[in-house]
Amino acid sequence: MTTVPAMIGEEAAKLDADDPLAPLRDRFLLPEGVVYLDGNSLGPLPAAVPPVLTDVVHRQWGTGLIRSWNEHGWWDAPLRVGDALGRLIGAEAGQTVAGDSTSVQLFTALSAAAALRPDRPLLVTDPGHFPTDRYLADAVARLHDLEVRHVPPAGLERFLASEGHRVAVVSYSPVDFRTGELYDMGALTAAAHRAGALVLWDLCHAAGALPVRVDDLGVDLAVGCGYKFLSGGPGAPAFLYVARRHHEALETPLTGWTGHADPFAMAPGYTPAPGIARARIGTPPVLSLLALEAALTVFDGVDLTRVRDKSLSLTGFFLRCADELLTPLGFEAVTPSDPARRGSQVSLRHPHAYGLVQALAAEGVIADMRAPDLLRFGVNALYTTHQDMLTAAVRLRDVVRRSAYDPAPQPSGRVV
Ligand SMILES: Cc1ncc(COP(=O)(O)O)c(C=O)c1O
Repeated sequence: MTTVPAMIGEEAAKLDADDPLAPLRDRFLLPEGVVYLDGNSLGPLPAAVPPVLTDVVHRQWGTGLIRSWNEHGWWDAPLRVGDALGRLIGAEAGQTVAGDSTSVQLFTALSAAAALRPDRPLLVTDPGHFPTDRYLADAVARLHDLEVRHVPPAGLERFLASEGHRVAVVSYSPVDFRTGELYDMGALTAAAHRAGALVLWDLCHAAGALPVRVDDLGVDLAVGCGYKFLSGGPGAPAFLYVARRHHEALETPLTGWTGHADPFAMAPGYTPAPGIARARIGTPPVLSLLALEAALTVFDGVDLTRVRDKSLSLTGFFLRCADELLTPLGFEAVTPSDPARRGSQVSLRHPHAYGLVQALAAEGVIADMRAPDLLRFGVNALYTTHQDMLTAAVRLRDVVRRSAYDPAPQPSGRVV
């Protein structure tokens, strides 16, 4: 039988009762009886999305047919949705394009950065970066004759002191996808710039989760996905931000026809469109773009500093729950307790992470894991409650106490 320690239960109830963001939960269609702590992997369905998709499919596509490219703004969607995404990362209009996957946008961004710094031979990335970021750094380095250096964010200043003059671009994420550690985007951007290098941020785990100020920080390039904290749906379009000061010299590697200055002239050769429009590649995925556009309305009127405050309250509360209920059972919190160094997830280490996450899902709490031994609990302040965090900790404790899980490791090919 599940018992909740009274003091923590009262604290959760009080924090939730005082939460000014609580009404935002109604902007999502969350399944009954499920505690969803995997929005850092796939955001849940916003209530605004199904009616928009129904309209796009039946009226715009079904009735409007090809006329909808003009009449329903399909053609402009990559730039219009790009601007909507830009507002969430502190980018003024005209610098962000939506489309393709994060991986494709990374390829574009890294290649463009290499072309902007042709006299510099090094590409710096984090050894702990998400695999696609590392693989694409290697691919772009091969194509541009660069050398990849793996430097963790904590060691960047020291590395730049000796090698900075040779660095073309520093490619980092502000949040470690495994541990949830948050790095200082401002300090790292400034350090790269002092060395004359460009900086590329992968905002997959930051966009929509915390305030990001790409323009104010002078970030050169950024990418991110639409399906985590932005809740754009499975495989939602990604985005690319390029600071306006780089547009004129911007060379994109994938010179598809929709990035042409006059796509319908069907000209024999490629002339890039002015501005960020040249980063368009092929025919945009309209259904997904318009689903993402609808999803982004969950942020209407929402102040991301309030989102950040609540996210820290949720993760801080969960760390306290974990300390009391889970540490005695062999779990170790790997996410920093310092709020300034904590993204919007908490990761706990346990040798049986995979089996525990499966058992927890059977108990109605959906989290995920990263091999070999990290359980990840993603919070989204727009819908997560302190009670959710307590429920997760209590059910995890109970699963362990009952030994009600399979200790086998993650089978190859399983997503969660
Ligand atoms: C930091 C980061 N970059 C990129 C990706 C994935 O790239 P893509 O959207 O191309 O699959 C992820 C997925 O979790 C991620 O965490």
